[in-house]
Amino acid sequence: MEKNKVLTICNQKGGVGKTTTALNMGAWLSIFAKVKVLLIDIDGQANLTACTSIDNSKISGTSFDLLTNDNIKAEDVIYKGNDLFDIIISDERLNNIDLILNGVMDRERQLLYKIESIVKDYDYIIIDCSPSLNLATINSLVASDYVLIPVQSDYLSIRGTAKLLDSINKIRERMNPKLDILGVFITMYDNRKINDKNIYFTIKEQFKDKAFDTFIRENVRLKESPIEKKSIFEYDKNCNGYVDYYNLFIEVWKRLGGKVNEK
Ligand SMILES: Nc1ncnc2c1ncn2[C@@H]1O[C@H](COP(=O)(O)OP(=O)(O)OP(=O)(O)O)[C@@H](O)[C@H]1O
Ligand SMILES: [Mg+2]
Repeated sequence: MEKNKVLTICNQKGGVGKTTTALNMGAWLSIFAKVKVLLIDIDGQANLTACTSIDNSKISGTSFDLLTNDNIKAEDVIYKGNDLFDIIISDERLNNIDLILNGVMDRERQLLYKIESIVKDYDYIIIDCSPSLNLATINSLVASDYVLIPVQSDYLSIRGTAKLLDSINKIRERMNPKLDILGVFITMYDNRKINDKNIYFTIKEQFKDKAFDTFIRENVRLKESPIEKKSIFEYDKNCNGYVDYYNLFIEVWKRLGGKVNEK
């Protein structure tokens, strides 16, 4: 199994399941693979932050502070009060990150420099991005070994992936040669729609061996579990959301060199 890896969940299209995937991947890795995980919310919407139970009195800073304040170290802003994973939360000041980092030297490498000292403390660091290629997202991609891409099962979403791949390639060429696409998977799949079936084949054709076989079906339980501040694995063992995300993460785990006990 690969260790001490940083992975960004990224798609500049909104509402495709990035945050849902980050939350559940953190939980899956902790519960089933028993590895140590840090989640970083680097989205000004702070949705991942809202999905986890946090004791606000124990928060001393956010990913915004980490990116913008030279005196703040990653150790200072990691919240350790959660059972399954540690987390660096975010806040709405991140929405202005492009303006604030304007003119700062190495502005794309702030996160990379800041997490260098803590990568050794975690098996996996998972970063949840906003639906834009702003400087917070670019910082995440520059600091990452892998990018995992959820794609919603509709035509326009699939068209958008070409732009995303182009951006990832540029970041790899100019700033982070080790950045690799771990894979692409379909979310919010509705098997009653014939259209969706075609999209599955399109993704397979476009991404070849980067496409995961598992696709995440639409499932209302995935919407409900964050309200209870729970992952799907803690919330409902008998729903499609559990089955699909479990199977997806088995595939992800194999790509990371992890061992799986086949039943
Ligand atoms: N497979 C699914 N079935 C049904 N609802 C889902 C599924 N995946 C995610 N959702 C819901 O869809 C909405 C968008 O999901 P999510 O917040 O994970 O997307 P996102 O890509 O992080 O969005 P944003 O780009 O705004 O950050 C949420 O309400 C979430 O609960
Ligand atoms: Mg999100």
